[in-house]
Amino acid sequence: MRLPDVSQDLFTTPLRTPLPKRLQAQLLHQHSLVVCEDADLTDAEKVYAECGQQCPLSWEECILPHRMKRCVKIGEGTFGEVFSTTNAAGETVALKVIPLEGSEKVNGEDQKTFGEILPEIIISKELSHLKEKQQNQTHGFIGLNDLHCVQGCYPPEFLKAWDAFDQRKGSENDRPGTDFFEKDQLFIILEFEFGGVDLENSNGTLASFVVAKSVLHQVTAALAVAEQELHFEHRDLHWGNVLVKATREKTGTFLLDGEAHSMETKGVLVRIIDYSLSRLEIDDLTISCDISNDEELFMGQGDYQFEIYRLMRQENGNKWSSYHPRTNVLWLHYLCSKLLSMKYKSSGGRGGKNAREELARFYDDVLQYSSATDALQNCPMFW
Ligand SMILES: Nc1ncnc2c1ncn2[C@@H]1O[C@H](COP(=O)(O)OP(=O)(O)OP(=O)(O)O)[C@@H](O)[C@H]1O
Ligand SMILES: [Mg+2]
Repeated sequence: MRLPDVSQDLFTTPLRTPLPKRLQAQLLHQHSLVVCEDADLTDAEKVYAECGQQCPLSWEECILPHRMKRCVKIGEGTFGEVFSTTNAAGETVALKVIPLEGSEKVNGEDQKTFGEILPEIIISKELSHLKEKQQNQTHGFIGLNDLHCVQGCYPPEFLKAWDAFDQRKGSENDRPGTDFFEKDQLFIILEFEFGGVDLENSNGTLASFVVAKSVLHQVTAALAVAEQELHFEHRDLHWGNVLVKATREKTGTFLLDGEAHSMETKGVLVRIIDYSLSRLEIDDLTISCDISNDEELFMGQGDYQFEIYRLMRQENGNKWSSYHPRTNVLWLHYLCSKLLSMKYKSSGGRGGKNAREELARFYDDVLQYSSATDALQNCPMFW
């Protein structure tokens, strides 16, 4: 018997619930203290409200069998597995699947609680909504299509896709099989637009330095727009968190303080992802991740990425709720170094040589700027 096609309704649930008004509070996540004026709502209720649900769904209600069958694992991190599949409109989407609230450690870490996942949910929605804003608008952050909380065993199709990825690339994560999770395990599923391939995995596939320059321009513009609208700092913008996909569109547009701008895509669209360390403000609500006591994060060696966490701490004096947009500039400096060291399909001729020189100059100069907005407006590479 075929299951009724309930996904149509599920995938068209309005994204913004009336919840944010009820979240007039200071949220500090990860090492998580959630102080909320509206003490009558539990963290679980807030997450369900964001999902437009009252209780968890079954996997089958959330992802129809024929879509399950099409899933391919495309990425992983400490907290999540990411699968691609198609949605009701036939578009490719990315499902980030995060186990929640269980007592078992996953990939060596405690599972996130409802309170700890809430900031990532709210930040993903806010940045996705920057596409529609009147004053500060950008498409540079990954679109969030939908969001669900499910309960039950990891679906066999996902496990098959997990095993295929493990054989293809090798996984660092625990296999999420029936022997690992209980039958009543909870998961959050964030359905994102498919953003392409992350920069770390696109080494050698970008056409030339001309494309690299556009990537940096698009990232800087997206950060600048989010700074202006939300006092946003990404705080973890390593090259696994910048996606690129091919486009036929020649130009990309954005609005900064009501003024329209365009930039050349050079055939690629950039999408920024992964907000687990990010910081922003919505009216009186500040969302930030207090990593002040996360010793390990500040001890990394061997790549400039790990230096950036220490430089951010110097910048903000280990106060992670306050706004220091220069952290975005630190990540731009890091990204520029990656783009300069990446392999490209071709030299790109004279244009490629010029773009390489401009990137090298950007690398030398960008640290003088106070924010991505400052860099966007004053760096000659973007004129
Ligand atoms: N929307 C998307 N489109 C295409 N690929 C994606 C998308 N989202 C994630 N990925 C892939 O999955 C990988 C892991 O995703 P992500 O960075 O969101 O999770 P993570 O690193 O586990 O995050 P966390 O820090 O919360 O544990 C990415 O590096 C990327 O390769
Ligand atoms: Mg990541």
